[in-house]
Amino acid sequence: MPVLAQAGGTDAGADAASGLFKSVNFVSDGLGLSPREYALLLDEATKGRDLEPDYYSLGGLVTARERQFAQLLGKEAAMFVPTGTLANHLAVRKLAGNDRRVLVQAESHLYNDSGDCAETLSGLNLIPLAQGRSTIELAEVRRWIERSAGGRVETKVGVLSIENPVRRNGHEMVEFGELEHICGYAREQGIRLHLDGARMFNLPFHSGRSLRDHAALFDTVYVSLWKHFNGASGAILAGNAGFIDGLFHLRRMFGGALPQAWPQVAPVGRYAERYEEDYANAWQATDRLIALLQADGRFEASKPPNGTSRFLLTVSGVAPDEWTARLRRRGVILPYAHPESGVLAMQVNPTVLRTSPDALARIFIAAMKD
Ligand SMILES: Cc1ncc(COP(=O)(O)O)c(C=O)c1O
Repeated sequence: MPVLAQAGGTDAGADAASGLFKSVNFVSDGLGLSPREYALLLDEATKGRDLEPDYYSLGGLVTARERQFAQLLGKEAAMFVPTGTLANHLAVRKLAGNDRRVLVQAESHLYNDSGDCAETLSGLNLIPLAQGRSTIELAEVRRWIERSAGGRVETKVGVLSIENPVRRNGHEMVEFGELEHICGYAREQGIRLHLDGARMFNLPFHSGRSLRDHAALFDTVYVSLWKHFNGASGAILAGNAGFIDGLFHLRRMFGGALPQAWPQVAPVGRYAERYEEDYANAWQATDRLIALLQADGRFEASKPPNGTSRFLLTVSGVAPDEWTARLRRRGVILPYAHPESGVLAMQVNPTVLRTSPDALARIFIAAMKD
């Protein structure tokens, strides 16, 4: 495999002097590519073979990615969507049909970060549950379904949409057993199920359940193409063939960057194929890094319960902002420390594999003074 295309690896052949594909970051979901790095990946994808472009997000490389993700998720079909925001919206809109109440987590992207698109543009009534939490309890779902069914004017719940992991809750995951209960009950009630799985490729490592196990609980599943898989933008919406068939008309209705989507997805395929392995290796390296830092005595690290891609780090004996600035100059990018607690919410991704954990620990420790 060409060096530039390696997801994590050591990027051993990358031009050291150029500094490209070298930085290690604890802030992004994927590699956090710079424009120059992305341009090189595009060059690589188009060199030496005829890359088949799409037309209005139909055909060519886009169809290839749709098939790949349908297969990875164990769904019959999938469709490219320019953004995850629109993927969630299209899913709940079509699943709801005439049953226009949609149960969502109060902390979900669909409820908080989508400008009420489903309410404003599709006339749906989103009902926020589990405020401040990731997992909706079965009793809450039951209460709303019964309340809606027994209303003075019939207004049925059509869809239950669940985000997993939950970004606003530090990427906490919904416990799989709970998910099975909630989805099983909703299904018995004839309610359709959507998964916002923007970052669901992190779930198997932490939950012990496969991508397909997670996807099987839902009628439709959205996965981001630009978070873990380093596309410029884009999303996949997967479901059964009947659901996806003809959905591109609805996609077109909402506009967006459709005319030539291939540059958005060109690097995605190979990163998706190896992501689970890269992520597991990234955590192995991170665990070693954490152990080395803790042995130093000036660092404390912890992992949140039901966490996925995050660990919390505190450092003593140095002002966190000064320390992170020094690390940045050494090519290691850390998040800002919380202004009061000084805690750094560290995001694990495959860039940690670009060097050894031992070398990284030495860099962290050397940056304590200078
Ligand atoms: C959980 C979740 N869902 C949906 C989205 C929306 O994706 P996009 O930015 O591609 O519209 C995001 C994006 O940040 C997200 O974190």
